[in-house]
Amino acid sequence: MGSIKAIITGVAGYVPDEILTNKDMEKLVETSDEWIQSRTGIKQRHIERDPDKATSDLVVGAINKLVEKTGLDVLEIDMIIVATITGDHTFPDTANIVASKIGAKNAFGYDINAACSGFIFSLVTASKFIETGTYKKILVAGADQMSSILDYEDRTTCILFGDGGGVVLLEPNQEPDGGGIHDAVLRGDGEGAAYLHMKAGGSKKPTTVETVMAREHFVYQEGRVVFKAAIKGMSESISTLLEKNNLDIADIDYLIPHQANKRILYGVADYIGFPREKVLINIENYGNTTAGTIPLCLSDFEGNFKKGDKLIITAFGGGFTWGAVLVEWAY
Ligand code: ACO
Repeated sequence: MGSIKAIITGVAGYVPDEILTNKDMEKLVETSDEWIQSRTGIKQRHIERDPDKATSDLVVGAINKLVEKTGLDVLEIDMIIVATITGDHTFPDTANIVASKIGAKNAFGYDINAACSGFIFSLVTASKFIETGTYKKILVAGADQMSSILDYEDRTTCILFGDGGGVVLLEPNQEPDGGGIHDAVLRGDGEGAAYLHMKAGGSKKPTTVETVMAREHFVYQEGRVVFKAAIKGMSESISTLLEKNNLDIADIDYLIPHQANKRILYGVADYIGFPREKVLINIENYGNTTAGTIPLCLSDFEGNFKKGDKLIITAFGGGFTWGAVLVEWAY
């Protein structure tokens, strides 16, 4: 039982067609392309404008691409985990809506809410169902329709985020040295909630006319605190993960960080002495898609990976939540 490893056997990303460039942002709030690019590395983000579309459609878009690429039979899917903070509804979860939309009649699922760390938390959770032999095909998605919770009058947050996501297929490793999700360091600290949250809409402060008028149904963030905590959290979890597995930075082929801000990503690389050229970055095209950034990044750079490559995937997000996962690429 203990010898089964979970391997990623396919990946796909999806973003809505419409693009909001930094020039477009200049028309919404007092900002500039130069400020956004120099402070964050972001050039544009994708936005869903169709009022009938929700996060489940981002996930379905990614799954449809995955099915096309891999020939996956949706009836063989056992389980779907969707990492998101912008589920279609407060309840029910989005994963079972996705299952119905794609016709995965034999699957069940649930959502995991760990903000920007949601995808790595979900990946590790799913890998345990594979390792125990419980399930054989699990879809792990990360997606957020951030435009649904952004205040496009708040220049400190609206320029950062975009809509999008992706999905990976997890299956049992069929070969003795076939790679897999090897190990992880996952962390959380509820004290961090003060610095990155939505003020109203939960049980602590249910939505009322007053909360809506006060614009409390949007993302609230104290950027400088999050910035510093993100560099510290991701750097420390990567170092702990390397130490636990007797690995050096030179053993790692690529670092796939949650795409929060280019300065944060280079900050992490420089802090731990990781070569910047091995840090995979695509934030310029999508902004921060919260739970969506890591599968989108894996999808964009899939062509770079070869079997046996050692990747570290790392994230930091609201909660605070953070961590790092050691993955050996399997194809
Ligand atoms: N355009 C122009 N000026 C702006 C903008 C904007 N969009 N936003 C803020 N400013 C101004 C501020 O008002 C401030 O002006 P002041 O000095 O007159 O008060 C000035 O720019 C500097 O503001 P800071 O907040 O100090 O700017 P900073 O360099 O820290 O950059 C940023 C802000 C980009 C939000 C940064 O703090 C950051 O990236 N934090 C991490 C946030 C993050 O990535 N969160 C995502 C969720 S969690 C995660 O994914 C890790």
